[in-house]
Amino acid sequence: MCLKSVLSTRFIANILTKMAVLLGLFSALLFVSEAIFVYNVNSTVMDSALLECSVPVKTDLKNLRFYWQDERNYVLYSFNKGKTMFNHVNDPYLNRVSAFTQDMTKGNISVLVKNLTLGDNGRIFEAYAAVFNGSKTVMQNSKVCHVNLYVTVPYKDLKLAVNTKMMTSVCTLRDVFPAPEIHWTIHYNHSESLVDSKYVHTKTEQDPENYLYTSSSTLHIPAGPYRAITCLCHNPTSNTTLNATYTLSKGAAVWSLPGWSAGLIVAAAVLLTALMQL
Ligand SMILES: *[C@@H]1O[C@H](CO)[C@@H](O)[C@H](O)[C@H]1NC(C)=O
Ligand SMILES: *[C@@H]1O[C@H](CO)[C@@H](O)[C@H](O)[C@H]1NC(C)=O
Ligand SMILES: *[C@@H]1O[C@H](CO)[C@@H](O)[C@H](O)[C@H]1NC(C)=O
Ligand SMILES: *[C@@H]1O[C@H](CO)[C@@H](O)[C@H](O)[C@H]1NC(C)=O
Ligand SMILES: *[C@@H]1O[C@H](CO)[C@@H](O)[C@H](O)[C@H]1NC(C)=O
Ligand SMILES: *[C@@H]1O[C@H](CO)[C@@H](O)[C@H](O)[C@H]1NC(C)=O
Ligand SMILES: *[C@@H]1O[C@H](CO)[C@@H](O)[C@H](O)[C@H]1NC(C)=O
Repeated sequence: MCLKSVLSTRFIANILTKMAVLLGLFSALLFVSEAIFVYNVNSTVMDSALLECSVPVKTDLKNLRFYWQDERNYVLYSFNKGKTMFNHVNDPYLNRVSAFTQDMTKGNISVLVKNLTLGDNGRIFEAYAAVFNGSKTVMQNSKVCHVNLYVTVPYKDLKLAVNTKMMTSVCTLRDVFPAPEIHWTIHYNHSESLVDSKYVHTKTEQDPENYLYTSSSTLHIPAGPYRAITCLCHNPTSNTTLNATYTLSKGAAVWSLPGWSAGLIVAAAVLLTALMQL
């Protein structure tokens, strides 16, 4: 009995939710038909991001009102009838956001967010604007732009270590953002192929304090007449790929590349050469 009534209440709640979703969808469609400009901006930490937006009206600065806010309703920038309202700006954006006053009369309400941090990654920014003419409203306060911002800590220093005895190869990328997508390719004399993921084990960890990722991918090199192996790390935000290649030389020795293992091998080789000359 009790269970049944709970179920039916859930059922009704479920239908109500679905109706709400449908209504939401409907109003979203209405908004879209009012042509909101939606796009992504991808940038780099410490760099800046231009959030572009314009309203289709030429206007005096004293007839223009607009503001930008993020999905938490934190205000980035606020302009009211010729004045920048610095006291409306919320903390994470203080002294970091500027607009282009000389372009505003053309309807350009873009803002520049400077000194990006990973705290800005994934934020959704929306611009609302209204245009008046004296006491008349030319354009009602409405959402005009929607920008998704993605921030990256660029990939560099890709380390590749190969153990030809164990037939394993480890590719490591430290302190980056976002997490890399790692792939391996094997080069034969006249072709190359993507390595099946069953030979690859990738471990990714995120530092809870600075949000940076460290990824380490181990390839169990399948037997075959290959000439070289390449580790490829794709950064989805900058849409770039960093790679490192290990070329097997005839009778290749133990470890290759880089860091302490390579250093030790060089030292050992020097020692061996020295001994042989004695
Ligand atoms: C708005 O002005 C800025 C600064 O001059 C410029 O970089 C941007 O391209 C302009 N945007 C539009 C939509 O005109
Ligand atoms: C940018 O942000 C960093 C860290 O928050 C800060 O140390 C640095 O002074 C800022 N630079 C500028 C130009 O605001
Ligand atoms: C503002 O109003 C004046 C007079 O009513 C008109 O001439 C002008 O075109 C209007 N400007 C805009 C941007 O609507
Ligand atoms: C690849 O090319 C090298 C040099 O041209 C040759 O010595 C080797 O036998 C070739 N390997 C295969 C598997 O064809
Ligand atoms: C921007 O970054 C997002 C998140 O990583 C990604 O999905 C998108 O493809 C990137 N856009 C471009 C143009 O690279
Ligand atoms: C990423 O770059 C490649 C070319 O290097 C391009 O074909 C692809 O469309 C880009 N992806 C995105 C999401 O912009
Ligand atoms: C590896 O990176 C270099 C540039 O650093 C590029 O020229 C080369 O095409 C890349 N190789 C692959 C297999 O992506």
